[in-house]
Amino acid sequence: MKDKVVLAYSGGLDTSAAIKWIAERHDMDVVALSIDLGMERDYESIRQKALKVGATKALVVDAKAVFITDYVFPALQADAIYEGQYPLATALARPLIAKLLVDTALQEGAAAVAHGCTGKGNDQVRFDVSTAALAPHLKIIAPAREWGMTREQTVEYAQRHGIPVPVTADSPYSVDENLWGRSVECGVLEDPWVEPPEEVYTLTKAPADAPNEPLYIEIGFEGGIAVNLDGQELDGVALVEGLNSLAGEHGVGRIDHVENRLVGIKSREIYEAPAATVLLLAHLALEQMTLSRDQIRFKQRMAQEYADLVYTASGPCRLCPEHAAPCHRDS
Ligand code: ARG
Repeated sequence: MKDKVVLAYSGGLDTSAAIKWIAERHDMDVVALSIDLGMERDYESIRQKALKVGATKALVVDAKAVFITDYVFPALQADAIYEGQYPLATALARPLIAKLLVDTALQEGAAAVAHGCTGKGNDQVRFDVSTAALAPHLKIIAPAREWGMTREQTVEYAQRHGIPVPVTADSPYSVDENLWGRSVECGVLEDPWVEPPEEVYTLTKAPADAPNEPLYIEIGFEGGIAVNLDGQELDGVALVEGLNSLAGEHGVGRIDHVENRLVGIKSREIYEAPAATVLLLAHLALEQMTLSRDQIRFKQRMAQEYADLVYTASGPCRLCPEHAAPCHRDS
């Protein structure tokens, strides 16, 4: 019997190629795990695609509710915003995805987990560090970090193995999305002189195209957590979804940030975070009304600390003093 690996599967080109590549290179059975964090996608066809490409099993988990209650809302209570700009949508989701990979690996008796991250970004560190914390015995396979293929070679590899290559495979951007926001990087965005082309945005209207009339909304908070919208009690998922469309429609939530990555490079990122922008601002305004001066000062410092911990998924790297978090050499 072959060893099993549980792969975080998005249905995109890289993770599809990864199914084949792991099976060939590591001679393992691949269990594909797709996680619904609020991206509107047809998860059943993603599941079918995984099986078609060669996964021995394909699972879908709806993790929207736990993402909001256990990851997003604590970050809202903490006012967690990285470098004053980024509400941390991608960073908050990675440890949850890692946890679900580990849970599934334990259920399946797998020897490894796998993710589609490259060796340049923060996400690999978050997956690696979280997995090592939860289940140090599991091996971590990161095909896109190991295979050394360019984009063109990956497309060619996919074609050679009968993996459907989406028309969007030549999108120059790397995108990640969940309920708390959407992150876009690469392509022309890497030049900070370039104004992001309108095509990078999908959740927000250009402010110039947004309605002229302002929209008033009332948000009810309890214990630092949003619980109702315009007087209507809503669970966290529905509230964030509702606010994403209302604020996005009004051109709220575009963020253009040159950010300090934890792997030691700067990168230009475009974020869309309509609900997060509104909720974080509203929460800060509420605290300004209710906390003392010293409480506010203290909270601001803690908020920054909290945001750094979420962003880096850990403390500093033990091997490389120049890295703000363990790099993959230390996992
Ligand atoms: N720079 C952001 C972060 O580190 C967003 C990363 C987006 N990831 C992606 N694969 N496009 O949290």
